[in-house]
Amino acid sequence: MDDVRITPSGQFDNHAREYAHIEARPLAAAMGAEIVGVDVRTIDDAAFAELSDALFHHKMIYLRGQAIDHGDHERFTRRFGPFGTDAYTKGVDGHPDVQPVIKEAATRSKAIFGGSWHTDSAFLPRPPSISTLFSVEIPPFGGDTAWANSVLAYRMLSPTMQRMIAPLRVHMSAVANFATQIRLNGAATPFSSDDARSQAIDGAYHPLVRTHPVTGEQALYVDESYAVGIEGMTAAESRPLLTFLAAHVTQHAFTCRLRWEPGMLVLWDNRICLHHASNDYDGYRRELYRTTVEGEVPA
Ligand code: SIN
Repeated sequence: MDDVRITPSGQFDNHAREYAHIEARPLAAAMGAEIVGVDVRTIDDAAFAELSDALFHHKMIYLRGQAIDHGDHERFTRRFGPFGTDAYTKGVDGHPDVQPVIKEAATRSKAIFGGSWHTDSAFLPRPPSISTLFSVEIPPFGGDTAWANSVLAYRMLSPTMQRMIAPLRVHMSAVANFATQIRLNGAATPFSSDDARSQAIDGAYHPLVRTHPVTGEQALYVDESYAVGIEGMTAAESRPLLTFLAAHVTQHAFTCRLRWEPGMLVLWDNRICLHHASNDYDGYRRELYRTTVEGEVPA
């Protein structure tokens, strides 16, 4: 039998690389690392180059004890490139590219923002390349975020499945996620404008297996939130395949999980990993701020 949960030994090496200006401390076997020795307000070009390398290598990195305001967050994000589009919010006052991700202690919600496995804004023609989250207030327990390494998940498919899916294009749209939120909450997270809403619902077609523009790694581009169809297939044909792939990509062995603390800045490579926010801290406030970097057309 080979239909058991996968143990990906030897398929991905999450050891830290040797750096001169930063230190990386791996978080899990599958992905993730803490970066120490860096203040993102003052990081120089040499350390920034190493931090970028660590981000691409570990897929998700985090830094503790960052005393940054929205302006610092924006400046650091801009070092990676222009801001990405956020379909959901207009940003905080005076900082349109800094998106609040806040749940109040009194809020009760069956579906929270980011509360299912997803890759950010996959419905855009150019989804963000990199996303960041900065934590201000964190519950005493709960509210963790998990990430899944979709390069590793791709490598753990059989060569036959890899060949079969290689030419396919996935339809990424917010339509199903939107409907789920309305069913569970009675309303969906509002979009920043009617145009943003139409774009998110119409969505975009992207390669189901995408190639990282810097590292050349191949990754599954699929999730349970936005992957709603496959170009040229009927829904009856695409649904079983997408259901399998969305479950495959997020299985435990491919993930890491972060216990937040205030003052953490997390960055992830949105092209090659998925993430999932936990909705398990009713009665406590959680306050984070997100920025994204504009990505390329997936290839
Ligand atoms: C997100 O999907 O960007 C939010 C993740 C989180 O709140 O943990």
